[in-house]
Amino acid sequence: RILILDFGSQVTQLIARRVRESGTYCEIIPFNADPARIRDFGAKGIILSGGPDLVSRAGSPRIPDVVCELGVPLLGICYGQQAMVHQLGGTVQGGDHQEFGRAYLEVTGDCPLFDGVWNRGERHQVWMSHGERVVEVPEGFRVVGTSDGAPCAAIADDARGFYGVQFHLEVAHTPDGAALLRNFTRQVCGCTGDWSMAAFRAEAVARIRQQVGDGKVICGLSGGVDSAVAAVLVHEAVGEQLNCIFVDHGLLRAGEAEDVVEVFRHHYNIPLVARDASELFLGKLDGVDDPEQKRKIIGTTFIDVFDEEAGKLGGADFLCQGTLYPDVIESVSPGGGPSVTIKSHHNVGGLPERMNLKLVEPLRELFKDEVRALGRELGLPERMVGRHPFPGPGLAIRIPGPVTRERADILRKADAIYLEEIRNAGLYDAIWQAFAVLLPVKTVGVMGDARSYDFVCALRAVTSTDGMTADSYPFDHAFLSRVATRIINEVRGINRVVYDVTSKPPGTIEWE
Ligand code: XMP
Repeated sequence: RILILDFGSQVTQLIARRVRESGTYCEIIPFNADPARIRDFGAKGIILSGGPDLVSRAGSPRIPDVVCELGVPLLGICYGQQAMVHQLGGTVQGGDHQEFGRAYLEVTGDCPLFDGVWNRGERHQVWMSHGERVVEVPEGFRVVGTSDGAPCAAIADDARGFYGVQFHLEVAHTPDGAALLRNFTRQVCGCTGDWSMAAFRAEAVARIRQQVGDGKVICGLSGGVDSAVAAVLVHEAVGEQLNCIFVDHGLLRAGEAEDVVEVFRHHYNIPLVARDASELFLGKLDGVDDPEQKRKIIGTTFIDVFDEEAGKLGGADFLCQGTLYPDVIESVSPGGGPSVTIKSHHNVGGLPERMNLKLVEPLRELFKDEVRALGRELGLPERMVGRHPFPGPGLAIRIPGPVTRERADILRKADAIYLEEIRNAGLYDAIWQAFAVLLPVKTVGVMGDARSYDFVCALRAVTSTDGMTADSYPFDHAFLSRVATRIINEVRGINRVVYDVTSKPPGTIEWE
């Protein structure tokens, strides 16, 4: 396993993704973590990430002593390289040497990182983003690559196994970056590269058994991929000690509740309580139009219902949750104060405390695409594994204004047509999220020879890699008009369809 020491770069997670894709397990730990954690991690090599600070600034982050004491290979990237050079006695120059974007590196020496990828004398595209640069290497190092803006763009000390690159090899704009990283983990650190979802599955099952013992576990299913994968994994580990609870709040997409019952009860034979609580939820949402109020009502009502159903099952010792790695990475945010809450996404916060449950979170170390791979490994149907994200409060935040059963039914039908057309056009997997929104606005139309006065439906589809930023999907016009025609013809209550072309920022993905 490899440890990534984070100095606050925007792209530290990408380093982890690339290392894992090469078949080596890794984790990210902040540079200022307790040294004992760094020591006890048992890394075969350590990668020092980039970061926003300047090495020349007094008080900027330093590599903790424990890192060099471990005697394992190091790879410094950008700020990580500069900190390494600075601390080992070389020179980092500040001032007017910024370099951002595409650059070309000339390979000037042999280096195990380049084996089978780059040869001496070649020039290769790399991606730079730095305000300072290394101008003199510490004793023991040689320069193996240079660029116009960085005389020491790649440096090596083979005796100690210390390497440094000024460019970002974790980003796609350094086309050979993944191969260089793979050379570091395999050739330099000696990792075997056999970490895979099959290996993870076996390890996770053993860990869950050890944690749970003969205790009872409950798991709330949402219909989404994370809770489904977590539940199937826990079931594989402890069998019928697991009970799943699925609360239908009446604001799910068409067919979703039936899908969950089919997959869990019939395909996997996992004990499942499916509770239709739509009356209760819709009753509490009656007349509420504030988005945050809707979220709060749905969150607390969910906890009440879940608690009640768990009580009927005779309680439990553990709560299984599909928490993912991006939610648990401790971020390094130099000078970062609390950020403004745009939307509160914590749907079921407070549940473990209230029910006095310990958490089982078997996906805590995985990225979303790894969870999908694990789901496939566990035999979950592709339809569930590849599903677009869906917010906990469901259709309630896709119906601006008051939510009623009638409006939810109208929206469900329009949404199903839209998604069906997207799947038929083969576009589903190219889109991060696609959904219909029902606007509380009526407009005039003409249908047949009669006047109509019905709601407006907005269609949204975005591309994104993490939901933090997004672009609207550029459908062709023929596709959009086909969807609009079908919705207006087939869904009573809608007589006009519009397409949302807002990016995020300044928009958000959901309308509320
Ligand atoms: P926004 O609308 O903030 O959405 O751009 C980003 C991602 O988060 C999802 N989302 C939610 N998920 N509870 C959730 O579980 C929520 O209250 C919530 N609000 C938004 C949204 O679907 C998108 O994937």
